[in-house]
Amino acid sequence: MKQLVHKLYARGELSKVELVDLLEHMDVETRKELFRLARLRREQAYGNKVYLRGLIEFSSYCRRNCLYCGLRAGNREAERYRLSPEEILECCREGYELGFRTFVLQSGEDPWYTADLLASLIRDIKGGFPDAAITLSIGEREAGTYRLLYEAGADRFLMRHETASRRLYQELHPLMSFDHRRQCLETLQSIGYQVGAGFMVGLPGQTAEDLAEDLIYLRTLNPDMIGIGPFIPHDKTPLAQAKAGSLEDTLVMVALARLFLPEALIPATTALGTLHPQGRELALKAGANVVMPNLSPVAVRKKYALYNNKICTGDESAQCRHCLELRIEAAGFSVDMGRGDSLKALASRHHA
Ligand code: 5AD
Ligand code: SF4
Ligand code: FES
Repeated sequence: MKQLVHKLYARGELSKVELVDLLEHMDVETRKELFRLARLRREQAYGNKVYLRGLIEFSSYCRRNCLYCGLRAGNREAERYRLSPEEILECCREGYELGFRTFVLQSGEDPWYTADLLASLIRDIKGGFPDAAITLSIGEREAGTYRLLYEAGADRFLMRHETASRRLYQELHPLMSFDHRRQCLETLQSIGYQVGAGFMVGLPGQTAEDLAEDLIYLRTLNPDMIGIGPFIPHDKTPLAQAKAGSLEDTLVMVALARLFLPEALIPATTALGTLHPQGRELALKAGANVVMPNLSPVAVRKKYALYNNKICTGDESAQCRHCLELRIEAAGFSVDMGRGDSLKALASRHHA
């Protein structure tokens, strides 16, 4: 199996058959070699740096019903909250003082925040902190809204494709469209956003073939960012009894994503940190190069519960930034608080 990893390193891709073969016969030695080469690729592209983003989870309301997610509309026991634009600005102010130059505004799909309200919020943030990048993670909206928010100053947009398997997507997302989600990602790219896609690992019913498709899809989409995390069950969802994705499988997908898309920004996700105390550090050593400490007010953090036992939600985590900085440096990397644009975005700016 090691030869396949070397072939991938040399060529930057594998066929679907080869990928499935590799995933189904991954042994300890092959995995080690995969992680080593993924880390090398990341060093060639981005060096030793780890980019920090300040994450603001501004609303736990969601109109969707994704089977895996604790914020699904059908979960009547979920505690809901909304931060006002002024509260969101206050989070940015605190974050800016801590040194953050990227704010990620994330929420469920919550129509309470109209296009106009979001546009004016974005203008206010950009007005106050012109050298900071704004990343939106608010789900599916009309193309016109995406355009308005881009013109207001939003720079980036995260929306995982969740799974590249049409069958699995349809099972997990009642009343949502597999094709529409992909269209949204393309629309966002054509508007000019730096776009993040991504998927979960270990979803119930997910096969090695499905995971191979995730990588193949990402190669065609060529996003700036790729979010990969393990599925973790949430008690109050239809998947409460399902098994979580594994640490190893998730790290393998992170490493493969790095080799398939060397220039992507890849976060070491909170879900990986939840699965294992060293999950995020291990991801950094397997090719990831971004972490997203939580900047939300501590009072609301527990309410943004996508899955069980989410870390960084207690009082002790008021300053994830310091915790993470220590962890990143202990793992042998150096923290970069800059905007951290993707290499793809920087290259297209040069040519513009
Ligand atoms: N386990 C892991 N990740 C989840 N997400 C939502 N619910 C879960 C869960 N139970 C992820 C989705 C979504 C992102 C914000 O969080 O991939 O896009
Ligand atoms: Fe809503 Fe996102 Fe959770 Fe789906 S994954 S229910 S869209 S918050
Ligand atoms: Fe959040 Fe350690 S990173 S508390």
